[in-house]
Amino acid sequence: MRAIQFFDTTLRDGEQTPGVNFNTKEKVQIALQLEKWGIDAIEAGFPIASVGDFEAVKAIAKAVQKMTVTGLARCQKKDIDRAYEALQSARFPQIHVFLATSDVHMQYKLKMTEAEVLAAIKEHVSYAKTKFAKVQFSPEDATRTRKEFLLTAVQTAIDAGATIINIPDTVGYSNPTEYGALFKFLLANIHSSEEIVFSSHCHDDLGMATANALAAIENGATRVEGTVNGIGERAGNTALEEVAVALYIRKDFYQCESKIQLQETKRTSDLVARLSGISVPQNKAVIGGNAYAHESGIHQDGVLKNPETYEIITPQLVGVNTNSLPLGKLSGRHAFVTKMQELGYTLADEEIKPLFKQFKNLADKKKQVTDDDLLALVADQDRQA
Ligand code: KIV
Ligand code: ZN
Repeated sequence: MRAIQFFDTTLRDGEQTPGVNFNTKEKVQIALQLEKWGIDAIEAGFPIASVGDFEAVKAIAKAVQKMTVTGLARCQKKDIDRAYEALQSARFPQIHVFLATSDVHMQYKLKMTEAEVLAAIKEHVSYAKTKFAKVQFSPEDATRTRKEFLLTAVQTAIDAGATIINIPDTVGYSNPTEYGALFKFLLANIHSSEEIVFSSHCHDDLGMATANALAAIENGATRVEGTVNGIGERAGNTALEEVAVALYIRKDFYQCESKIQLQETKRTSDLVARLSGISVPQNKAVIGGNAYAHESGIHQDGVLKNPETYEIITPQLVGVNTNSLPLGKLSGRHAFVTKMQELGYTLADEEIKPLFKQFKNLADKKKQVTDDDLLALVADQDRQA
């Protein structure tokens, strides 16, 4: 079995979803849940982008114990310095330096020649290496970059000290055959005395972000980047929960394993959906509301006889509780605390009492208190705090 590392960029690329803006407290809450989920490395933000991003990366670096914490940086020394500053208290810091390499980006966005791009990669990856043991380099828009130039850019980054090479399909242009072949080509042609981790980073413009990530893994990538629920710029990023479950369910095919604790998947998804305000479509793979629902008579009959007839994933595997306790006015404190845990809240003793009282007041007026009602109670309390 090959080990696949999971790199979560919900708080950086995911936050680039129009309308999404997490505050620092929310970012730390998500980071801690990602740690429970088993994520290896988290991209906590882009420290030079704003004071808020800088402070959030700093707070996450302090709070997180096991995950590598990454800050994004352009090929600019001030970006690298700012990321270094933000990551001072991280136990396992990493920097992610990027520069575009496609003709369209170099000509119109960067207004740089190929030689200038290579010189900038060399200079800034080397500079980053003086501050960080782990340097990741991404040739932005890699999949629309001329292959030979991409190889030269990647080799330049490796020679300058990068040990993680991320290949972004920035605009979701590639397909599994092509993206997989690109990894095969790069892995066969780079030279390094050190072990180089190849990582996939896909966007979903053509609906192929998960398939492309899996194709990269089939062709030698040992790290996958993505976000929870696939949130992100435009059509979003690879949904990490889909890759994690695909690797598990089809381990006969992929022969890979990860540290993802699948039973934490639904909880992680719910938290991100709630804090981002981007709800998960009902038919979304793995964590959608209908993912374990069977409507037609033939399917229902089959599932009742043996769930394996129409269910390749059990809801329990990903922490979907199909028998969740309904809460009402007769429910006790224990059921209430358990339900709050299901929703992602581990409440301190002093928080339980006032919330439980409010819940009881509400339950007196309503037959059944829904998850949304409970989340509204917590939000009210947070606002008052
Ligand atoms: O999609 C992309 O190219 C990115 C880079 C910053 C890695 O998000
Ligand atoms: Zn991206």
